[in-house]
Amino acid sequence: MIKILIVLILLVVVFRFWQRWELTKFEVNDYVIESEKIKEEQHAVVIADLHGFSYGEQNQRLLQQIEKRHPKIILIPGDLIVSKYSDTFPIALEFLKNLVQIAPVYYSFGNHETRLREEKRKNHKAFEAYMSEVEKLGVKVLNNESVSLKDWEGVRITGLELPIEYYEKGRIVPMAENDLKDFLPKPAGEAFGILLAHNPAYAQQYAAWGADVAFCGHNHGGLIRIPGVGSLLSPQLTFFPKYDAGRFEFGDKNVIVSRGLGTHTFHIRIFNRAELLDIRFVPQNSRECI
Ligand SMILES: [Fe+2]
Repeated sequence: MIKILIVLILLVVVFRFWQRWELTKFEVNDYVIESEKIKEEQHAVVIADLHGFSYGEQNQRLLQQIEKRHPKIILIPGDLIVSKYSDTFPIALEFLKNLVQIAPVYYSFGNHETRLREEKRKNHKAFEAYMSEVEKLGVKVLNNESVSLKDWEGVRITGLELPIEYYEKGRIVPMAENDLKDFLPKPAGEAFGILLAHNPAYAQQYAAWGADVAFCGHNHGGLIRIPGVGSLLSPQLTFFPKYDAGRFEFGDKNVIVSRGLGTHTFHIRIFNRAELLDIRFVPQNSRECI
């Protein structure tokens, strides 16, 4: 009995050390998006679900990786903070201060930001102060609005902020294909439309709305990934989420789901390394020449 107990304690200690090591690492994953609407080849980086984490002092390790990729734009599809820990707000703010020196930053809300719109929430006031500083930095916050890029012709970015009810634990709240039209402005039409949409559960609807590419996060890769199967559990506590991580194609539309960069509540990542996305946008038929 004592031997079994010792083995169990050892396993727990090894697991905790392994996870502490694993949670301080991230990888950079590349995607190519090819479209006849893209006139000019450019890069973007996607930072999802950082949740106030810092890779090294003031996120220097992450910033170095972003800087060396020379992105034209930086895209943040939500959850830069943890709603119940206001000490994550200054970390996020400091990170944004450095990001805007690299390239224009576009930020739409995840559930952790949206939740703090409610006045009754503990960190509501701190969140308001945080957002006021975010806007002063020149970060373009896009919540159910669109912007056409001035120095990248023919590209339009839209940010989706879903009502907090769409993040109910334990189930995916149904959304009809037309529901998005109530939240969002018109799709980009002739322009190439990028959608920042935190919750990947509605990937099909994002494509149906008209996003040429949507970038999502939220799932953190599912905490535990089973090789060959995918994500075990979403942060909304749904098992085997369909849109867990990676690229999903709907005709000529793409939805790319990031495994994210941070964690909260359950600080584990098993076969599920954190990731920064490097997206290369290229004109149609130019891919083989790269
Ligand atoms: Fe989230």
